Amino acid sequence: MAYQNLLVDNKERVLYITINRESKLNALNAATLGELHTALTNAFADETVGGIIITGAGPKAFVAGADIAEFADLDVEGGRKLAVDGHTKIFDLIENAGKPVIAAINGFALGGGLELAMACHIRIASDNAKMGLPEVSLGLIPGYGGTQRLTNLVGKGKALEMIMTADMITAADAYQSGLVNHVVTPEELIPKAEEILQKILSRAPLAIAAAIKAVNAAGLNNGNGYETEIAEFAKCFGTDDFKEGVSAFLEKRKSAFKGK
Ligand code: COA
Repeated sequence: MAYQNLLVDNKERVLYITINRESKLNALNAATLGELHTALTNAFADETVGGIIITGAGPKAFVAGADIAEFADLDVEGGRKLAVDGHTKIFDLIENAGKPVIAAINGFALGGGLELAMACHIRIASDNAKMGLPEVSLGLIPGYGGTQRLTNLVGKGKALEMIMTADMITAADAYQSGLVNHVVTPEELIPKAEEILQKILSRAPLAIAAAIKAVNAAGLNNGNGYETEIAEFAKCFGTDDFKEGVSAFLEKRKSAFKGK
């Protein structure tokens, strides 16, 4: 199948998915999300695919977030639909897959980009990577699972600091906080992901699927955090601050929030 915004390659039971919108730092627009859903669904059903490595095209970005240009006209209902569709078609799909998915974070992983990496089962970062959830600087909060998965990975204090300051952290800091499993040089990034994935693929596939399911049960089924996130994310789209945040980004100026 031909994709416009992805490079997809199947080698030695590994499906390599590269988000390929380098001029927009691989930002996830609707078309890319649609293609990603198709590629993932096909991969999970394909017996020749044992596991998946997701990375970003070019040296600069894994994924610099959801495509902000597509947010500009959304209202509360549009925001809710965006989040629900994303959770269902991509982020929960990856997290609950019966096959291992590794994020090879080769640069900026921001907003929806970090949420994509966090939905994967293992994260490996190159030492030039920068990670963050900058949504509050747009008058939003993370809407693709970020408030829940970041809290699960790094704990509440660090998650709230990252989300409320909107600051980016380095790969070294991400490793120290448990956000990524390994940090390597850019040249070692894919080989390291391959090494780990090939080891997993040498184990019993049904046991791997069961392990993913069991480990997920620890963090996911004890509350309705995602429902809360979707409701709060959707509400942001009804605020003036959101309109200001997105306009300021698109007009390349500093935003002036009013708290309304
Ligand atoms: N959505 C849409 N476009 C994006 C984008 C996003 N999330 N992130 C980057 N881009 C685009 C830029 O608008 C720019 O496009 P242009 O060349 O047509 O103007 C291009 O990608 C390159 O980005 P630029 O900002 O020029 O690169 P930089 O090196 O100066 O800065 C970042 C890199 C990552 C710091 C900056 O792009 C950024 O802050 N992006 C938004 C991150 C974000 O808020 N993500 C969360 C969204 S919810």
